[in-house]
Amino acid sequence: MATYIPPTHTENPYLPFGDQRGSPFYGRDILSVKQFDRKDLEYIFGVAHEMREMVQRVGTFDLLKGKILASLFYEPSTRTSSSFTSAMERLGGSVIPINEVRYSSVSKGESLPDTVRTLECYADIIVLRHPEVGASALAAQFARKPIINAGDGIGEHPTQALLDLFTIVEELGEVDGLVVTMLGDLKYGRTVHSLARLLSLYNVRLNYVSPAILRMPEDIFSELDEKSIQQAESDKLDGVLVETDVLYVTRVQRERFADQAEYESVKDAYVIGADTMSQAKERMIVMHPLPRVGEISMEVDDDPRAAYFRQMEYGLYVRMALLAMVLGKA
Ligand code: CP
Repeated sequence: MATYIPPTHTENPYLPFGDQRGSPFYGRDILSVKQFDRKDLEYIFGVAHEMREMVQRVGTFDLLKGKILASLFYEPSTRTSSSFTSAMERLGGSVIPINEVRYSSVSKGESLPDTVRTLECYADIIVLRHPEVGASALAAQFARKPIINAGDGIGEHPTQALLDLFTIVEELGEVDGLVVTMLGDLKYGRTVHSLARLLSLYNVRLNYVSPAILRMPEDIFSELDEKSIQQAESDKLDGVLVETDVLYVTRVQRERFADQAEYESVKDAYVIGADTMSQAKERMIVMHPLPRVGEISMEVDDDPRAAYFRQMEYGLYVRMALLAMVLGKA
């Protein structure tokens, strides 16, 4: 299999003079988790941990003062768009928000390449969410400034996977040796695609629990199999819950189904409730990329093992770390 080599904008003459260029991520696009190794992750999580301490100590500081982020979202988002905005502003930078592309020139038929070529005239970095797989890679081909993939259709969501892994590290202290159970929509869920790939850098066991029509895609299963990652599939949670250290729950995504009857047939396949938690380990966490629409009942929210709200906050620190690193300031 060909080695994935992410595009780089390190030679970009347009980035402002005086930036620190020592960061291994300086000027790089963040397009896929395939571009990271364990050393990279340790580096990112170290910076993210520092960002957490800084936010808790001082709230906002001027590391990226004068830098501008263009936040370009062709699909709805609450967490990713607002955490990138918050990350940039907590670092002293500013944001051009385009969260509703129908009010931009996209509605007049402007192409993605032309849209990113426009925004890079005004911004130092572009965060892009798009419904099509590969859209961020396409944007990166045309942009001189770094592109961060904030979700490309059913493809990848690399910054979500980074914050997911950071959550595991911060909450459980380690990744090696864990049993991670992914539950729900594993076919269309880009977060589980990225997370499974990232976890394959560690010594983990993965369980995939889903309805038959929403199984983990064969290419990802095979990719991890080649790396000798132990993977097991089931349509039932019961058999694997007791051994699970991380239960990663996902929403069945109505918007990805062409056939709404098919969606209706699987939308309530799993609901995590207090009864489920009573059978889980005492030391484990429940995660969810959110939004949820009923697959975790609210009675679980006060359980200390429910990490999904803390997970959102970890996302802020990881995105601060990424922005600082890509812009050469960490
Ligand atoms: N987890 C996630 O991507 O959430 P949003 O769709 O709200 O950004």
